[in-house]
Amino acid sequence: MKMLSQTGAPQELTADGLVIGIYEGEDTPAPTTAAWDACVSGQIAAILASGDFKAKPNATLVLHTLAFPIKRVALVGLGKKGEATLETLRQAAGKGTSILRDLNLKHITIGLVDDAPRGLKAPAELAEIAQAVTEGAGMSLFQLTDYRTRDREDIKTVETVTIWSNHSETALTEGLRHGTVLVESIALARTLILHPSNVVTATRLAEEAQRAGEAAGLSVKIFEKADLEAMKMGGILAVNQGSVHPPKLIMMEHRGGSADDPPIAIVGKGITFDTGGISIKPGEGMEKMKYDMAGGAAAIAIMVAAARLGIKKNLVGLIPATDNMPSGTALKPGDVFTAYNGLTVEVLNTDAEGRLVLCDAISYAITEKKACAVIDMATLTGACIIALGTEAVGVLGNHQGLVDQLLASGERTGDRGWQLPLWKEYNELLRSDIADLKNIGGREAGTITAACFLQRFVGDTPWVHLDIAGTAWTEKEKPYRPKGPTGTPVRAVIDTLMHWPAL
Ligand code: BES
Ligand code: MN
Ligand code: ZN
Repeated sequence: MKMLSQTGAPQELTADGLVIGIYEGEDTPAPTTAAWDACVSGQIAAILASGDFKAKPNATLVLHTLAFPIKRVALVGLGKKGEATLETLRQAAGKGTSILRDLNLKHITIGLVDDAPRGLKAPAELAEIAQAVTEGAGMSLFQLTDYRTRDREDIKTVETVTIWSNHSETALTEGLRHGTVLVESIALARTLILHPSNVVTATRLAEEAQRAGEAAGLSVKIFEKADLEAMKMGGILAVNQGSVHPPKLIMMEHRGGSADDPPIAIVGKGITFDTGGISIKPGEGMEKMKYDMAGGAAAIAIMVAAARLGIKKNLVGLIPATDNMPSGTALKPGDVFTAYNGLTVEVLNTDAEGRLVLCDAISYAITEKKACAVIDMATLTGACIIALGTEAVGVLGNHQGLVDQLLASGERTGDRGWQLPLWKEYNELLRSDIADLKNIGGREAGTITAACFLQRFVGDTPWVHLDIAGTAWTEKEKPYRPKGPTGTPVRAVIDTLMHWPAL
C-alpha cells in the first residue's frame, strides 16, 4: 500500500472511494464538501438535512454515487465541532478507510475538509492534521495474511491511500511523510509481534532488526550467546537457560546528535515466548505470550523511525531477546544469579523474567554506552492490566520531567499512559534473605515492584518505564487498531524524542 498526497480542485479527484469527515449538527456541508456534494447530486446535503446521519464520532454511511467517477463516498462522523481532537481525526480516517477496504476498493482518497482545523478543540497545523489522518488510515489497513493458503483472492488489500487538501501542499506532504514513516515502522513492529514464536525466535528477531535497521541507516550489532557469557550478562543467560534457541542482545545505534553527546537508550523486552519457565503459566490463553516481545518490537520500530525521520539525537536501542522455557536445564525458583552490574538476584518466580533480561540491557546502556537517559518498554506485568486495563500504558520513572513529557506525548499521539508511584517504601518488598534482591515483590503493587526492580539497575540516570502489558495487544477491534498487536508505544516515544525536555 502506498500513501500519497494531492491538492487541486475537489471536483477533479479520481479514486474508487472518497472519505469525508462531517461534524455533528451541520445541516449544510462545509465548502469543499459542498463541491463534492454537487458531484453526487446533492445527496450529502439531503442526508444531513434528513437527520438520517447524525455524525456521531466514528458513525459511518456509505453512498453509491451513480454518476460521479468516484464510485463510493464514505461519510464519517467527527462529533461536535469544537470538541474534536487529532485523535478524533485519526479514528475517523481509520474507520472510513477500513470500511472502503472491506468493500474491496483499491484506491481511496481522504478529503481534508477545508474547515477541519476550525472544528478542533485545540488549533492544529495542517501538517499535524495530515499526519494524524495518515496514521489513522495507514494503521487501520494493517493485516498479516502470510499464513493463509486458501481463498487468497478473498483477501482485500488497498493499493493507494491519497490525502487530499486544497491548502498548502508543503504542509500536506510534510505531515504525510512523517505519518507514513510511523505507519510503516508500526507495521514492522506489529508484523514481528503477530508472527508466532516458532518463526520469530531471538535469532529471527535479530535478523529482522539488522535488515530493517541497516536499511534505515542505523548501525546494528548483535551480541551472541558467547558474547553475553564473556560480558557476564547473568540475567539474559539465566532466562535463556531452559531454551534450545540461543539468546541475542540486539543493539541499534542512531547518530543524529553531535559526536560527543551521550545517547538516549531505548530498551525493549524481547521475550519471544513466555511460558513462565518452571513457574509455568496455566495453559489457557498461553498462546498470547508470543506478544511478550512487543516492547522489543516497539524499540526496533522506534529506532527505525528515528533514523528515517532524522531525529537530531544520539540513540542506542537495546533489545535482549530469548524465549522463557521450562526444561531440565531451566532456571529454578530459589536460584541466584549475578547480573551484569554485579548485583545478585534471587529468583523466586521464573515467570518474572522480563525484568531479568531488561536489567542487563539497562546496566549496559548506562555503564558502557554512557546513556544520559533510559526509556524502557515491556509487557512486564499482568498486574498492569488489572490496574489500568487496555486503555493506558503504565508509566513509572525517577524523573518527573521525563514522565510528564511521555504522558503529554501519549495524550497527543493517542498512545495514552497513566503514572503510578515509585515511592522508596515499595523497595522493601524486594528484600531477599540470601541475595541483594529478589525478583518478585508478592501480590501487592505488582507493576510498581517490577519497576522498583528495574530502578535498582538504573540508579540516578533519568529513566521512564512503560508497562505495555495491557496496551500492546487488543482483543477488540478499535478504529485504527485492528485486533491484535497495536504498535503502542511507538508514536508516544517518537513524539517524546522530538520534544525532548531539558533533564
Ligand atoms: N509477560 C508477563 C506479563 C504479562 C501477562 C503480559 C499477561 C501480558 C499479559 C510477565 O513476564 C509475567 O509473567 N509477569 C508475572 C510477574 C509475577 C510472577 C510477579 C505476572 O504478571 O504474573
Ligand atoms: Mn513471565
Ligand atoms: Zn513475560
